[in-house]
Amino acid sequence: MANLGDENKNGSGKPKIKRLGIRPMKWGDLNQVMEIETLSFMRPWNINGFIMEIVFNSLSCYLVALDKTEKEKVVGYGGIWFMSQRAHITTLAVHPRYHNCGVGSKLVNSLKQRARYRGCTRMTLEVRVSNEAARHLYQKHGFTVSSVSPDYYYDEDALVMEINLLKERSEQV
Ligand SMILES: CC(C)(COP(=O)(O)OP(=O)(O)OC[C@H]1O[C@@H](n2cnc3c(N)ncnc32)[C@H](O)[C@@H]1OP(=O)(O)O)[C@@H](O)C(=O)NCCC(=O)NCCS
Repeated sequence: MANLGDENKNGSGKPKIKRLGIRPMKWGDLNQVMEIETLSFMRPWNINGFIMEIVFNSLSCYLVALDKTEKEKVVGYGGIWFMSQRAHITTLAVHPRYHNCGVGSKLVNSLKQRARYRGCTRMTLEVRVSNEAARHLYQKHGFTVSSVSPDYYYDEDALVMEINLLKERSEQV
């Protein structure tokens, strides 16, 4: 569990998260996950997508971030697929009320840890070219652009980003 301290980086108007927990996503989280999903994406997954991932896909790992001061409120989530030695981020989202509180960073670090534990040597993802928040987050965590996937999102190109988990320094961001 991380102690993020009393102050948020961006000051007033944001909830303070004193105790942020990370654990695997469970069936009982899905209503809160779906609320965040629909607030976060133009083409959200439906609930069956998450059920398939957490119940039936043994080559995946989905984590939720919890504000433990609010009865374990789900404030974000992220997932990866284990594809041999590569881990691929399938989704990552933080409730808009909790943006810029460090939740996304904590999730990325936790997903990297899980990937290393499973023996993955690199991690990849796709991100919309226009998604500055996500690009900044991933760059801060050492990901670099390896290629562009034209029209990946039908209305926009994707940047393919990648990190070598072996070369990365051991300190967490
Ligand atoms: C992308 C997302 C997960 C980031 O989560 P977050 O919890 O706000 O991220 P953090 O608070 O850990 O911030 C990480 C860094 O990104 C920066 N950042 C956050 N929002 C930003 C924005 N709109 N523009 C530029 N940088 C931004 C933060 O300032 C921080 O960098 P810093 O420490 O150098 O200041 C969140 O914005 C989100 O859920 N977006 C909608 C869903 C989405 O786009 N998911 C990604 C799909 S690839």
